[in-house]
Amino acid sequence: MRKIVTAGLSILLVTSLAFLASAEISDKAQLGRELFYDPSFGGTLDPKKVSGLACATCHADFDEAANPDGKIRAGHSIVGVPHRGSAKGGMIKGEMFTRAAGGGGFCYEHFLQKIPDDKVNPTNIPAEQAEALMAYFEYVSGDNKGPKFEMKMLDKDAASAAADKIVEMKGDSNKGWSLFSRTCNDCHPTAIKAGIGTRLVRPGRPPANLQKRLHKIARYARSGGSVMPFFAEDRLSDQNLADILAFISELYGGGKSSSQKKKTP
Ligand code: HEC
Ligand code: HEC
Repeated sequence: MRKIVTAGLSILLVTSLAFLASAEISDKAQLGRELFYDPSFGGTLDPKKVSGLACATCHADFDEAANPDGKIRAGHSIVGVPHRGSAKGGMIKGEMFTRAAGGGGFCYEHFLQKIPDDKVNPTNIPAEQAEALMAYFEYVSGDNKGPKFEMKMLDKDAASAAADKIVEMKGDSNKGWSLFSRTCNDCHPTAIKAGIGTRLVRPGRPPANLQKRLHKIARYARSGGSVMPFFAEDRLSDQNLADILAFISELYGGGKSSSQKKKTP
């Protein structure tokens, strides 16, 4: 009986604590959270122009180092954004920083609405929504300064040079299969189906030049595309990419013999 009462009490305590914790979020931060997960951004975007991506597709809203969930996202966690004070390698700073939602205003135009990066104005995001996002970033960050990183975006030539190196590396296709699923799958839902991203592989129909095809895949991962985000080395290593290439090469039916694992009959 006493056990039951104690159990009952602790359940009560846990639920009320959970209630208290969730009650702490302000209306503004709650709106920010909803926007963060919503590809229509609260229904404010033109459904004919959107990419279908949400902030949450490319950014975690928790400390990935402390609580890894296995997913590999192109962007860094938004934990710590309010502490950074500048974004996009210093291009967004000062008063503009808060107005542009700590840099999220760039992503709002480019990744959610497919506006070419040279036409983006990071302060075009409506002020109320930028504020709500910042309130959410503050809510999830607290004192946590978030991951330390350097913005390292490669241009086409640098990405091509990186790809030269990656295609020469030995890859493990089993690891590549898992890495592909954790990294590329949201937009390329399995390598053989199109989603927000293109269809990457037609099984049984290898490209005329497989090496060239693999090189393009590695280059894209490092430089990004018109909407596709780039993956910096601290998100996805060269070895990770070599493994993904081994996996894709296997789906094509082989060809990159040096990096292929022997199939067990
Ligand atoms: C398609 C993927 C993608 C989407 C969608 C996306 N981002 Fe980003 N974002 C990136 C990448 C890649 C970077 C650059 C690397 C980094 O800084 O993490 C970036 C950078 C940022 C930064 C700046 C980090 C810095 O200090 O330079 C913030 C803040 C941010 N994004 C917030 C958002 C918000 C808010 C949304 C939704 C409106 C969003 N992002 C949507 C991929 C994305
Ligand atoms: C957030 C969404 C997103 C993620 C994640 C993503 N892609 Fe893409 N990808 C796209 C979109 C959208 C395109 C269409 C063209 C563009 O954006 O330039 C694309 C195009 C491509 C292309 C060029 C088209 C082609 O078939 O030659 C390659 C290669 C590619 N992606 C590889 C990858 C690989 C490998 C990964 C994982 C490491 C990945 N992508 C992760 C969105 C994404």
